[in-house]
This record gives sequence, C-alpha cells and structure tokens, in this order.
Amino acid sequence: MDLIPALHAIVGEANVLVDRDVVATYERDWTGRFGAPATCVVRPADVDEVAAVLRACAAAGVPVVPQGGNTGLVGGGVPRAGGEVVLSLTRLDAIGDVDPALGVVEVGAGVTLGALQAAARAAGFEAGIDFGARDSCTVGGMVACDAGGARALRHGTARARVAGLEAVLADGTVVRRMAGLAKDNAGFALGQLLIGSEGTLGVVTRVLWRLVPRCDARVTALVPVASAADAAALLAALRAHAPSLESCEFFLDDGLSLVLDAQRRPSPLAQRAPAYVLAECAARTDPTEELAAALEAAGVEDALIADDSAGREGLWALREGHTEAINAAGVPHKMDVGVPLAQLGRFLERAPGAVAAAVPDVADVRTFLFGHLGDGNVHVNVLGPAPDDHRADDAVLELVLACGGTISAEHGVGVAKAGWLERARGAGEVAAMRAVKAALDPAGILNPGAVLPAPSAPAPATPGQPTRPARE
Ligand code: FAD
Ligand code: MLT
Ligand code: ZN
Repeated sequence: MDLIPALHAIVGEANVLVDRDVVATYERDWTGRFGAPATCVVRPADVDEVAAVLRACAAAGVPVVPQGGNTGLVGGGVPRAGGEVVLSLTRLDAIGDVDPALGVVEVGAGVTLGALQAAARAAGFEAGIDFGARDSCTVGGMVACDAGGARALRHGTARARVAGLEAVLADGTVVRRMAGLAKDNAGFALGQLLIGSEGTLGVVTRVLWRLVPRCDARVTALVPVASAADAAALLAALRAHAPSLESCEFFLDDGLSLVLDAQRRPSPLAQRAPAYVLAECAARTDPTEELAAALEAAGVEDALIADDSAGREGLWALREGHTEAINAAGVPHKMDVGVPLAQLGRFLERAPGAVAAAVPDVADVRTFLFGHLGDGNVHVNVLGPAPDDHRADDAVLELVLACGGTISAEHGVGVAKAGWLERARGAGEVAAMRAVKAALDPAGILNPGAVLPAPSAPAPATPGQPTRPARE
C-alpha cells in the first residue's frame, strides 16, 4: 500500500500535511542551519495512532523524524537526508489533574513547557524546569533531549522530572510505566534509556511529570565580574550562603551589547564589565537576605537586585535574549558544551582564539559565550562561517575534549555533533549504543543520522586519538 493513503487511513487526511508551504515550516530547524525536504508531516492524536503511523512507515521503509515544538538547536528534529516523514506530536496535548500527594501530573508529549508550568502553578507546584523556548518546546522534546535550562542547578535536568513514561518503539510496540511507583525495579528501566535518546530509540507519547514545590518569593541579582575566576568564586559563595539558589548563569560583555542592540534598550548597568553573573534565589519566604549575605561573602559591591516580577524579567531578558539576538545576526553555529568548573576560565579564554584560528579566511567571525555557570555549561555561538563549514565547530569541540568536558550538555547531539560522538565517548561505548539501537530499531526507521552517525559518515577532520582525554 502507498504510504500517504495508509497514513490518511490512520490519522485522517487533514492530519497528513503535504502542502509545500505548510510542510516547509516543519522542515527547517530553529537556527536555520539544518533541514531537508520531507515526504509529509503526519499529526497523530494519540498513542494508538503514533503506533500505527510507525508501523506504516516501517512497512514502507520510510524513516521517521519525531518533532515537538521544533525548537531544538542541533538539527535532530528536522529531516536531513530528504524524504523522511516528520512525525509531529503537538496534538498529544492533554494535561491531567495534578496529584498533590504524589506531586506529579500526567502530560501528553505535545504539551508545551509553558502550559505545563501554568498547570503546575495553578495547583501550588512548579514544573522545576525553565528556559527561553518555554512557549513552543514540548514535554516530549524536553524528555527526548534531556533538556536542562536555568533551573537544572537546583532541580536537575528533564530526566529528574520523569516519574513515569509512555513511548512507542519503532515497530509500534507501546512501552508504558505510568503508575508513579516510587520503587519499581522489575526489569530494565527502558524509560531511562529513552530519556535523552533524541527520538532515535522510541517516540515519547506521555509523561508523568514530577513537580517541585512552588516558590513565590524570588530575588534576582545581576553581578558584573572581572573574570571567570571571579564568577566561579561568586558561585561558591552563593552555594555556601544561599541554600535557596535556583539559577546561576553568565554572559560576557559583547553578548550584552548584542542583546541591548537587538532589544533596543540602554544598559541597566552604570559600569560595564568583562562578564556578568545572573543569580536567582527562590523560596517560600523572602530570600533577599540570603542572597545579600552571599554577595557580601563574595566581596561584591556592585550588583543590580530585583525582587519584583517586572524587574526580574528585565534582568532575565538580558540573559535569555542572547539566543534570539544571535539568530537575528546570522545563522549561528551553536555548540552547547560542558566543562569542569576548574577548566572554565581556560575554556572561555581560548575558545574565541581557537575559532578565529580555524577559519582565518572568514571575515568578521564572531564568537559569543554564555550559559549556565552553575552547571559548567557553556553555549558557544559562532557567527560568520557558512552553515556547512564545520571548521569552527571542530575547533571548539576539540578544545572541549582537551579540557575534559562534554560535546553536549543539554541540547543533545542531533546531527550537528553526531560525527563527534566517537571522539567524545570512545569506540566501545558507541558500539554499545549501536547495539542498543539495532535491538530496538533494527530497520533504522527512527531518526536515522541523529546522535549516531551513519556508519559510513566521515569522522571529524581533526588529528588526535579516538578516545576521550583522561580526567585527572
Ligand atoms: P524538537 O526541537 O521538536 O525536537 C528535539 C529532539 O527531540 C529531536 O531529536 C526530535 O526528534 C526529538 N523529539 C521531539 N519530540 C519527541 C517525542 N515526543 N518523542 C521522541 N523524540 C522526540 N534547551 C535546553 O536544554 N536548555 C535551554 O536553556 C534551552 N533554551 C532554549 C532557548 C531557545 C530560545 C531555544 C529556541 C531553544 C532552547 N533550548 C534549550 C533547546 C530546545 O528548546 C530544547 O532542546 C527542547 O527540549 C526541544 O523541545 P522541542 O519540543 O522543541 O523538540
Ligand atoms: C540558553 O541557555 O539560552 C539556551 O540553551 C539556548 C541557546 O543556547 O541559545
Ligand atoms: Zn542553555
């Protein structure tokens, strides 16, 4: 049977999108760097339809790219070879009642982070995760990428929020552990394997989301700092003196200038500095004194403090505004990496030089560095090189490995960094990953080319041993 009529029979004609203009909006990623033409976009309404769609695509031998809000930044949620079916999960948007005793809520994979946050707050809880794409990104996408964001410092990444999971494997088999049992060690934890697998091992359809207590008393500080060492010292003081610390972020002065220009507003700071730390404390009772004690312990004399929502949002816009401001300036090469805190200064100092040296022929190459200081998570954004020029990416990832870090902290590997997986994880671990993939998806239907490179794909064009550097 032809695939399109088979899909019509499963989800209805209206939910198989083939109009080129409509399909185009699902084919290119948020950065504009990745994408290829899709056969169609299919929009199932529930887990049974997802299973039937996967069976139909498997029978037709057509690869499937799962997609949520399409806010991913590594090209993993859009077609890459051309001809894939985009499986959009956004119609799975049911939100159940919050269970206050368990502190959980059942949510469909297509529920946006913003909708989850609103439901949690209305019931006296919070989602325990937050980042700039909140109005578009989905629960399924967050779980598939093991997303982090600004509150991972306190609440962990998406993995820590998953109390139960339902998913469909490549052959249409439904796996489901949704009872919210605190203890359940009967057999392999398949759900854990699916978290962070970026749509390559299964399609997430429902999640039992573990909530955190709501903290309405919030205070935010923007602190100018002279160096990465000062930023790390401030982080240490915040950890020691402010148990209510929820976020600790950083950005540099060139990023601030770009954001202020994009947002057409003046700097709220009287004095500019090489770098800035944005810290937020959240508690049931006013955490201002805790924060003040931490700033004093760190010897901070000059900080902007906001304890009302408008003031806090103004400070957060300076940090979160980086992604949009950079996108507005060009198609970025985005490297989301993590380094041990002890290596942060070295990494920040060397990254721009490594990029410039890698692309000496590219005029106006610009490197912006910002991220989640508390997690050692740096977002390296390079403007200038053409989208398919990998030299700057390779230079940054080489430096990350030399610093004992990871090539992906929270965005995932996607297609952007698949070629680097073996350098980062070693041949043995990648072989184990391939074995898992082959067991769960022997025909290679689910998201081929993401995370695990095609076996014939070239390795990164850099010298060095195919092993991760030892961590002393
Ligand atoms: P998509 O982009 O649609 O897909 C992402 C990946 O997940 C793809 O590999 C896709 O195949 C897979 N996938 C999607 N849905 C499913 C499903 N139901 N089952 C199986 N696989 C699925 N990320 C962070 O971690 N921290 C941040 O602070 C952060 N900030 C961001 C800020 C902005 C402005 C933007 C644009 C992005 C940001 N991101 C951040 C990246 C992105 O929002 C996250 O990776 C998010 O989790 C992606 O969700 P999505 O629904 O948009 O997924
Ligand atoms: C962020 O922390 O702002 C995001 O991860 C998005 C980005 O890296 O641009
Ligand atoms: Zn981030």
